[in-house]
Amino acid sequence: MAEVVVVEDEQAAGELVAGSIVSLIRQKPDAVLGLATGSTPLASYRALASRIAAEAIDVRGVRGFALDEYVGLPVGHPESYRAVITREVVEPLGLTPELVRVPNGDPATIEHAGADYEAAITAAGGVDLQILGIGRTGHIGFNEPGSSLASLTRVKTLTEPTRVDNARFFDSPEDVPMHCITQGIGTILRARHLVLLAFGEAKAEAVAAAVEGGVSASQPGSAIQLHPHATVIVDAAAASRL
Ligand code: GLP
Repeated sequence: MAEVVVVEDEQAAGELVAGSIVSLIRQKPDAVLGLATGSTPLASYRALASRIAAEAIDVRGVRGFALDEYVGLPVGHPESYRAVITREVVEPLGLTPELVRVPNGDPATIEHAGADYEAAITAAGGVDLQILGIGRTGHIGFNEPGSSLASLTRVKTLTEPTRVDNARFFDSPEDVPMHCITQGIGTILRARHLVLLAFGEAKAEAVAAAVEGGVSASQPGSAIQLHPHATVIVDAAAASRL
């Protein structure tokens, strides 16, 4: 059973997440962070950047693994998750760029990109703290409904609702890639601590299914119930169906 913490707003959630990550880094200067993209974790990254600056925390050894990436965007595309993670996490936090990995969405090497990523996570000793958002469809990472609970990093097809949701980041909806490469649910479950964040009414259904619904591949978020140390941080609106 996941621990559910209801907070006032995203900023309060950000402070909590930043606090957990700061304690982790103080204990383990080469901590391995699991990084999510999307709007949800942004307040946490901002709060963490403030703590790092204010307390002069040495983060040069901190390592990171992003959850997912689009397949086939040109290198340097501003909405590639490589670019997003650089802009929103690596630079503001002052992390060492070479220590932060994002799955490789280059079609030329995609056949072995999943296995390579799994090997890199294993070689790093696994993820200490995994930040997760959740999609309206209940997806975590880009594991859409129907993803095996034992899945590892692999290529997936994005569902239409997710492409529509993510169209806001692109010039037109048709520009949203059809495919992605994402850590699997099995990969995510290997992290030692999961922190799932959700804010707003639009996420209430997905949060209720993840926290209280049956554990099933048709609700990828429900996999957190299988994890021994999962924390769900939500505002009142996202908690409204619990
Ligand atoms: C995106 C990402 C997920 C994210 C989710 C929610 O498509 N691949 O990792 O958690 O959808 O996004 P947001 O936080 O913007 O609502």
